[in-house]
This record gives sequence, structure tokens and C-alpha cells, in this order.
Amino acid sequence: MGTPYALDRALVADPGARAGAALLYLPETESTQDVARALLRLGAPAGTAVLADHQTAGRGTRGRTWQAGAGDGIHLSVLAPVPPKPEAVPWLTPAAAIAVAQALRGLTSVPPRLKWPNDVLLGGRKVAGVLTEIPGDAKLAIVGIGVNVHRAPADGTLYPATAVADWALDELRRDDLAAQILREVDHLLRRLERGRTDHIKEAWRMLLDTLGQRVAVTQDGTVIEGRAAAVDGVGALIVRRDDGGALRLAPGSAATIRPLADPGASPAPAAKEDRP
Ligand code: BTN
Repeated sequence: MGTPYALDRALVADPGARAGAALLYLPETESTQDVARALLRLGAPAGTAVLADHQTAGRGTRGRTWQAGAGDGIHLSVLAPVPPKPEAVPWLTPAAAIAVAQALRGLTSVPPRLKWPNDVLLGGRKVAGVLTEIPGDAKLAIVGIGVNVHRAPADGTLYPATAVADWALDELRRDDLAAQILREVDHLLRRLERGRTDHIKEAWRMLLDTLGQRVAVTQDGTVIEGRAAAVDGVGALIVRRDDGGALRLAPGSAATIRPLADPGASPAPAAKEDRP
């Protein structure tokens, strides 16, 4: 048995699922993405997963860092088949974000939601992020998942951050959560591999907080305001601009997006530490 602060490899590995059936657990590494990439080069099969207690050089999207104190979070990279259908490839990242949201379901006092293109939110704050990397023409993608479990990073985040523990209904074990994430990832990535995106698109639309929100999009140093109106068939977000016209943001786009105050919207719920 591990303590709540240590990941127990035996509790995470699930021989019934492909994702995580071969699991490399490391107390500390620079980035699980790099370890997974090295394993990929050595010929590791789909489903191989790397899980670390602590990363010293965790990477986020768009060249950002991903920071977490030792023992605070889940740092997981999974080798996932690149779907043979090109139109299914952009759904790898949303599928992993959906997997995290599904794994959190029932554990927290507020339902997990998603923020386009790769974030999982609790109470409107970021609790997890996904970084998908496909080296060259590799047949396997490296899907990286970071979850703030016990504590959110104190700084270094552009978006307000939170931790699962801030909303947890019960005591949390990172082992259990990591194992559940691997099960959900396994299920969704198997669908994607077969080119089946309908279920993932539907879950994405249902869970996406961004849809309908007033947003500010920063692209090439310019800020454009509008309303997130729709997600198209390849996961691109369509924003109706306040000044007329529309903006189409592909999932891998360098644009950043943040919600704007909306006079019609209800206030965000309070996390444990904010409650009176
Ligand atoms: C983001 O929201 O910017 C994506 C964050 C992804 C972080 C995870 S933690 C496991 C894996 N290893 C890394 O270095 N990054 C990803």
C-alpha cells in the first residue's frame, strides 16, 4: 500500500487495459514526455505509459512549463496509436481531456468541465492539462497528462489554477485516480484508433465550458473579443467576433483564449479554501 503521497505502481497498472499495461514508474524525472519518447524510439508498444511523482522540467503547451511540487500531482505520458484517419488525429488531445474529466466524475463537489483546447477545469479553474506530441512520422503519439491532485502550483500559470483536493468529496489517492485516468484513456483511444470520433465529439461538446462563452482570443499579439459559437468536425473552435465575421481556431493553433465577464452568466462556485 502506498501513502497518499506516493504513487504505487502495482495499484496503477491494469493488465486488462492496454494503456498502462506496461507502466514505467519513476519517482523523479525531467519530463515523462521525454522518457516516453525514448521508449518509443526503443520500439515500445502502444499503451506503454510513464508515470512520475515529480518532474523537474515538465512541459506545457506552447513552450510553457508545467510545474508541480513533489507528490502533488499526476504526471503521465501514454504512447497512443496515431489514428489512421487524418481527421481523427486532432481528437487525441480532446479525448485525453475527456478521459480526465470522466475519471474525476463523482469525486468532486463540482462537475469537471473542459476549456478549449486542452484544459480540464474545476470551478472555472484549471486542474489538468494535456500535451500531445507526435515525433516526426511516428505511428504512436505521446499523450501527456498533468493533474494537480493535492495542490495547485503557486505560480507559473497563466490561467487560475486549482487542485482536485480543493473540491474533493472524500480522501484522494493519486494511484486510484491515475488508474482510472488510464482506463478512460484506454477506452477513448481505442475508439479513435478505429476512426470512431462521434462519441468523443459529443462528449467534447457536452463538457466544453468554452462554448457559448464571451472570450478574448490573443493571436499574433492581437486581442480579438467575441463569443465561442461552435466546434467543427476537426475540433476547431469557431468564434463569432464582436466586430463581425468569424475566427476559426484549429486545435493546435498558437492562439490563447480566456473567458470574459459575461453579464448574463452565474458566479463561479467557491473552492474549499474560499468558502466562508
Ligand atoms: C498544458 O496544459 O499546458 C499541458 C500540460 C501537460 C503536462 C503533462 S505532465 C506529464 C507530461 N510531461 C510533461 O512534461 N508534460 C506533460
